[in-house]
Amino acid sequence: MRAITTVPPGGGVKLSQVNIESKNGLKIKTYRTGICGTDKEIAAGRLAFVRPELGSSLILGHEAVGIVTESDENSGFKEGDIVVPMVRRPGKCRMCRLGRQDFCEDGDFVEAGIRGKNGFMRDEFVEDPRFLVKVNDPSILDIAVLTEPMKNVMKMKEIFQFMRMRIPWYCDDSTLSCKNLYVFGTGTEGLLISTVFKSLGINVVEVNRHPLGENVMDYLDSNKIDYLDTSSETLGRKVKDQPMDAAIDAVGAMDVLKEITDNIRNNGIAIMFGTSGQLPSSTYEVLENIVDRNVVVVGSVDGAKAHYAEAIRFMETQGKAMQMERIITGKYEPEDLKIFSEKEKLEIKKVIAWS
Ligand code: BGC
Ligand code: ZN
Ligand code: ZN
Repeated sequence: MRAITTVPPGGGVKLSQVNIESKNGLKIKTYRTGICGTDKEIAAGRLAFVRPELGSSLILGHEAVGIVTESDENSGFKEGDIVVPMVRRPGKCRMCRLGRQDFCEDGDFVEAGIRGKNGFMRDEFVEDPRFLVKVNDPSILDIAVLTEPMKNVMKMKEIFQFMRMRIPWYCDDSTLSCKNLYVFGTGTEGLLISTVFKSLGINVVEVNRHPLGENVMDYLDSNKIDYLDTSSETLGRKVKDQPMDAAIDAVGAMDVLKEITDNIRNNGIAIMFGTSGQLPSSTYEVLENIVDRNVVVVGSVDGAKAHYAEAIRFMETQGKAMQMERIITGKYEPEDLKIFSEKEKLEIKKVIAWS
């Protein structure tokens, strides 16, 4: 079968013919795989923790949706079921044993397509049913590839709900309609964050350093999500009219933590998600703003099985109304390897069609 492989840590990608002996599990025909910043970084040889499962090459791909082609009765799945595989697989620590490998205590886990386990960019794979999540509504088949990035958002939402319970952090009418959340980053993850948090009834402002693409503007407009291009209006100016009650960073590449702590209100909630970046320019100022003003800054990576299921339910119930199909801006063949290195002008999420 065909598979997209890389030889870590050097990077580079190629479409290879691979012959992998199937272990026990269900056979899944791959339908779509998504490519994200992580895949591009791996392809560019910039992620130090990438490692193969066996030998020297790794099959890429951690965002996927597929169809069960061979099952067994006791697995809870049947032929034809639409499934999303989980990325991270447990190690031996207590959190991993409790099914919360997203909170792994010692780093002894593997991640499909990233570290220590072959991923899903291939025609088919065999999977342990414990790590499959079922999609019930076939009408979301094409957007279900967004489940994996969206499960990160569902975990952020859980953390956010937890953090806001510290104090009566709601409006006089007990909703969140007077609160403003600033989301940094207008890639897939940023847009999914905005989409999910908007559905909580909070005002969302998407922040970007450059003018936004037309398609992103349309998506935000139709979901009544506000936006700020900091090349034409500063964050400091914007928060005068719309105070920053909460912030989520999905960029990591710029000094976002500093921008957030400079502008967030007292009792603010900041969730940091982006990782590929530089350190804040002034650690002292940042810490002073956080500690002295009771701002919660929470790191968040990965999510639990329940978050995958929640992402799927969200798309099943609100995906159409929120026009989430617009997040997928290109469908490519496995041969089109240039998508790992090139960025289209209006690109949000690119997917590879395997069948
Ligand atoms: C995935 C996470 C994963 C992380 C780091 C992200 O792209 O969504 O589940 O833990 O990469 O490997
Ligand atoms: Zn990803
Ligand atoms: Zn662990």
